[in-house]
Amino acid sequence: MYEAYWNLRMPPFENRPDPRFFYGSRAHHECLTRLRYAVNRRKGPVLLTGPAGSGKTLVCHRFLASLPRGAYDVAVVPELDPDPETFLREALRRWGQEPGSGGRSELGAQIRSHLLENHRRGVESLLVMDGAHAVQTPEALNEIRLLLPPRFGGRFVLTLVLVGRPELVARVRSVPALDQRIGVPVRLGPLSREETIRYVLTRLKRAGAGRCMFRPRALDTVHQLSEGLPREINTLCDAALLRAYLERAPFVEAHHVALGEEAAAATCA
Ligand SMILES: Nc1ncnc2c1ncn2[C@@H]1O[C@H](COP(=O)(O)OP(=O)(O)O)[C@@H](O)[C@H]1O
Ligand SMILES: [Mg+2]
Repeated sequence: MYEAYWNLRMPPFENRPDPRFFYGSRAHHECLTRLRYAVNRRKGPVLLTGPAGSGKTLVCHRFLASLPRGAYDVAVVPELDPDPETFLREALRRWGQEPGSGGRSELGAQIRSHLLENHRRGVESLLVMDGAHAVQTPEALNEIRLLLPPRFGGRFVLTLVLVGRPELVARVRSVPALDQRIGVPVRLGPLSREETIRYVLTRLKRAGAGRCMFRPRALDTVHQLSEGLPREINTLCDAALLRAYLERAPFVEAHHVALGEEAAAATCA
């Protein structure tokens, strides 16, 4: 849309988990390191939490892409269904297994035997449950806990990565049997002001920009309104680039950012 006007090769602020646009903030780096540590050392379940749009799913993608091929049998459930039978079936399918027609306990047993089979073959099993905050009842969370088979030689045969919004922490806490087994808690917070600016600059550069068209005050406004959340930063910057282009402005000013669609509508009314 506005790419030619701003001399960009591609749109810089798409809300997609595109690895080319990855910006390694301190928190994102730390999160990757902890994930690697948990999986390499088989430390048991990882609880990865952070606000919506903070980059949890992208970090998981990046982490999974870095795993050596063949050594891991990975199942990623992208949007966990709150119903245990549904999520157990989904996990089996994502491991390439046809789920049986039985209920929870049979599905759980099927998963455990798949894990043991992997263990015998020397393959690591990894299960990423994204959107795990959707699972609300202790009973359903306990069903996740039951997936964790006994350790072999002091090590877990499954690395479970539970990913969700911050409220997941309290929910997991309400199921002590699961909470006590969490090996590595990881929290992803918002970007600082400096990181927000570096995030914007990184994305602009990767999209081919030869200069930063955002004025410093516009970048401050992006940070304030987005509260440092990458998904919000993308939405605000994309809208601001469009608005400034429509005005044929040479720079993106604070008011291009501050006037979101709703605010603009309110001003017109
Ligand atoms: N570290 C990052 N580098 C580049 N883009 C990011 C980063 N973190 C998040 N994003 C952007 O924000 C969007 C939302 O992130 P996502 O991982 O879906 O958040 P969450 O899963 O926490 O809701 C991503 O699609 C991506 O475009
Ligand atoms: Mg997500």
